[in-house]
Amino acid sequence: MKGLLKIVFVLLAVEANAQQPLFIPDTLSGSTINLTLKTDSVQFFPGQISFTNGYSGYKYLGKTLILKKGTNVSITVNNQLPDTTTIHWHGLHVAPQNDGGPHTMIMPGATWNPQFTVMDRASTYWYHPHFHMKTAEQVLKGAAGMIIVRDSAEAALNLPRKYGIDDFPIIVQSLQFDSLNQPMPKGMEDSTLLVNSTMNPYVNMPAQVVRLRLLNASGERVLNFGFTGSMSFSIIGSDGGLLQNPVSATRVRLAPGERAEVLLNLTGMNTQTIQLMSYGSELPMGVQGGPTMPMSGGPPMDSPLNGIDFNILQINVVAQTTTPVITIPSTLVNVTPYTAIQANITRTINMTADSMMVMDGPFYFNGNTFDMMRIDYQIPLNNIEIWQLSNQTMVAHPFHIHDVQFYILDRDGNAPPLEERGRKDVVLVMPNETVRFITKFEDFADTLTPYMFHCHILMHEDDGMMGQFVVSSTVLGIKDIKNTKDNISIFPNPANDKISIKCPEANKKSNAVITVYNSTGQKVGDYKFSSEGVYNIDVSGWPGGIYFTTIMIDNEVVGEKKFAVLK
Ligand code: C2O
Ligand code: CU
Ligand code: CU
Repeated sequence: MKGLLKIVFVLLAVEANAQQPLFIPDTLSGSTINLTLKTDSVQFFPGQISFTNGYSGYKYLGKTLILKKGTNVSITVNNQLPDTTTIHWHGLHVAPQNDGGPHTMIMPGATWNPQFTVMDRASTYWYHPHFHMKTAEQVLKGAAGMIIVRDSAEAALNLPRKYGIDDFPIIVQSLQFDSLNQPMPKGMEDSTLLVNSTMNPYVNMPAQVVRLRLLNASGERVLNFGFTGSMSFSIIGSDGGLLQNPVSATRVRLAPGERAEVLLNLTGMNTQTIQLMSYGSELPMGVQGGPTMPMSGGPPMDSPLNGIDFNILQINVVAQTTTPVITIPSTLVNVTPYTAIQANITRTINMTADSMMVMDGPFYFNGNTFDMMRIDYQIPLNNIEIWQLSNQTMVAHPFHIHDVQFYILDRDGNAPPLEERGRKDVVLVMPNETVRFITKFEDFADTLTPYMFHCHILMHEDDGMMGQFVVSSTVLGIKDIKNTKDNISIFPNPANDKISIKCPEANKKSNAVITVYNSTGQKVGDYKFSSEGVYNIDVSGWPGGIYFTTIMIDNEVVGEKKFAVLK
């Protein structure tokens, strides 16, 4: 009897898994864009429906936004979820209050209206919620979409750019569903693949050069893309722009959050079928999606997809279009990375866990867990900085930073592979590896709203593997601020009548001085700590705004923090 039930179930499952045409999301473009995010449901499996999130009438995911560099865009986001959210434009260089980080909350029923000039290079970006501790849940229920930026440098090249015809959005997600068919915000037993929300998809592509915009929008899984027969293709773009030259490859590895644009030459292949695959068997142990680590005691947290090669999308090659692209340009755009000697500072970020055996978190940056009230770095506007990321855990972490695109200087001292020599906003840092990147923090200075940096494994991020920085035009000449985390606490923040500044390091140091500056950099005053390392300042007569405090001991800055006075 049990066997029979099982057969019936398998048949149902096979039925549900019949191949479906790949869904190609519509596009939204122009100077005003409306996004309404609401709950919906999808019959992913027989039986219980899955509750999902979708934008603008879609049950899952949203339309593709087409933005033009140099134009202004006003986006209205209406949150019809029964939950607070935020929407982040991943990879775009926008002011922090337009960035949609965890501080820019959109309450249920509320509308948010960021307006900005598109400053980014032509590439593939994406949008998704960023509400702290709910990011994985909201994204994996479907609240994500692709952004395509176009610019004149890209337009000057003979590249496929007919959306859905020779230029395809490929949003890949690997999901874990619970026993009630609901997408899970946690768990490493993901075994359901969706491409543009389609399960078990196929797509028709013409027998010419086609462009695939690959986005790994999974919560955890690293995908090692390739095509059957190890057919070679050209990688033309990394996260934040086209590469200098196409890179011929048979694999492109994308961690959660990463994008790549590839050209595939299907000329002469009419009627053939190939598969876009992930070659998980080639990923090293320690990378989510690679072979499962042997665990001492207890069953391993494992997915049937780990360490194996599997199909993602079936490509049926069909007749050529009327004006096909049939060649691949040999040069693309100018890419001019900063060089290490230009950097004003190197910031060191160690990725750590409570022990070397931890596989599923929590993970930390420099021992810290995320704190919305702690600013980890105040970065002077126009600083060129090297960030040195050292992974001291047993799992690989895709590090992502907002505001900027960066250039990878090296991986363990070696130049990165060719496809990683373009503009990036996510870099996968392997266990025991040290990666250095260089970037410039330009255009936007605002001390009220921080930008985020975090692991793009959404479960790690929600679990606190995130930090924040502000870019400040008033913090001049201040180099790395070490250990601000324990050094200063300010309460309440924001304040209106009295603040209490606490600095344990200043305890019993008679020469500890607190200096407060206003947002234009003028000194408000110097204050001395009490013997307990506490100082209370009456701010009731101060104008409302943002203030900075610097604590010095023996003429050395031991900490820095901002606070707000509200009127
Ligand atoms: Cu794609 Cu801070 O995120
Ligand atoms: Cu981002
Ligand atoms: Cu991580």
